[in-house]
Amino acid sequence: MPGTVVVGTQWGDEGKGKLTDLLAPDMDMVVRYQGGHNAGHTIVVGDQSFAVRLVPSGILHPGTMNVIGNGVVVDPRVLLEELDTLGGRGIDTSNLVVSGNAHLILPYHQEVDRLAERYLGRHKLGTTKSGIGPAYADKAARVGLRVQDLLDPKIFRQKLDVVLKEKNAMLAKVYNQLPLSADDIAGCYLDELAPRLAPRIADSVHLVHEALEAGRNVMFEGAQATFLDLDHGTYPFVTSSNPVAGGACAGAGVGPRHLDRIIGITKAYLTRVGSGPFPTELFDDAGDLLIERGREWGTNTGRRRRSGWFDAVMLRHAVRLNSLTDIFLTKLDVLDPLEVVKVCVAYEVDGERLDHLPYHQSVLHKVEPVYAELPGWQADCSGATTLDELPTEARDYVRFLAEQGGVPVRYVGVGPERLQTVRVA
Ligand code: GDP
Ligand code: IMO
Ligand code: MG
Repeated sequence: MPGTVVVGTQWGDEGKGKLTDLLAPDMDMVVRYQGGHNAGHTIVVGDQSFAVRLVPSGILHPGTMNVIGNGVVVDPRVLLEELDTLGGRGIDTSNLVVSGNAHLILPYHQEVDRLAERYLGRHKLGTTKSGIGPAYADKAARVGLRVQDLLDPKIFRQKLDVVLKEKNAMLAKVYNQLPLSADDIAGCYLDELAPRLAPRIADSVHLVHEALEAGRNVMFEGAQATFLDLDHGTYPFVTSSNPVAGGACAGAGVGPRHLDRIIGITKAYLTRVGSGPFPTELFDDAGDLLIERGREWGTNTGRRRRSGWFDAVMLRHAVRLNSLTDIFLTKLDVLDPLEVVKVCVAYEVDGERLDHLPYHQSVLHKVEPVYAELPGWQADCSGATTLDELPTEARDYVRFLAEQGGVPVRYVGVGPERLQTVRVA
């Protein structure tokens, strides 16, 4: 099974970092294929917690090569800071390379992200303000600067001068802001950041294919998630890339035949951060319990997430969109104290039952969830290491979700720590 994809099946923060780290010892390479430092992937080892944003979650394993793929948008300052932090904690990061074809996030991207959100007012998307949308927009408009441009100061400066002219006009005329200085940006990116990043800039596509051709195991780590996907998510409340498993092909430079195993990371309930529809959202004590027990505050932004019951309609759609072969069900332990656990199995709209996700967003906004109610287990499952050690009701809940999705649950998370994971035989 050389090609494994790790993909979020909900609205992010499902536990992709945890599973990627858990499987990394069996992987020769972990490749991040999209997104940027809007991601926050947590790895907990013993009493130590690591939160990575751009760095792939295989970084704690020196025998695993970590690759930031061409589909990622890279803020080199954030990347270097992240590497410094890891280095300061004794982690050897010499096993990390970044694709020369990845696009750069520049100061005007962050500035525009922040200002655009402010202009949208109450219609804002609730972005992470990392400059992700503006950087991908420039990539699509073919005015982006790439990581490889850091190696060619003349080209970098030429491209920057052209694009900054337009950006400064926009900053001044639309947003009433002061212009940014090309000298300052070039000074920072070329003189300060480029020399440090240069040794890590690589032909990532070549490296990935060398590994695959040698029969080595390569994992493709997604950021964000299926319902934040630019094409398939709850547009416009989405991110600006394609987290779905197919995104691994474009974002890492491999054909679909290399994707053998596709693991959907699925939280035992739902959360979302930022705006957008959320049919099973809770505004009561049960919702607060999920937030409190699940510690549902953004890894990077510190924002309180929204919470709700598990939505099997979404899971079934995610199974289709990603060709999931396995599910990693995370955070089962968060549900421990509940008397009753609800699962949305269908929607109802205008007296009609819907078993699949409506394509029309206006319909999604007004659907009513149809719930199955399952008995809670009201026991601590955080110490379980095998399925048999889970309370019967917890096992039934896992089985119910697997049946709803039509895909086997292969791992169950019962706590944040790396080893708090039940492997299902
Ligand atoms: P990612 O973005 O998908 O990697 O997920 P995040 O790291 O942003 O959010 C997941 C959070 O849940 C982190 O704080 C993890 O440490 C934590 N976590 C992961 N799996 C489990 C689990 O099975 N149980 C509990 N209680 N916490 C978990
Ligand atoms: P990980 O990889 C959860 C959300 C933002 C916002 C929308 C667009 O940790 O699961 P963006 O900054 O991407 O333009 O914001 O997407 N968002 C995430 N939500 N987890 C993430 O990443 C997210 N990355 C972006 O909150 O609603
Ligand atoms: Mg996260």
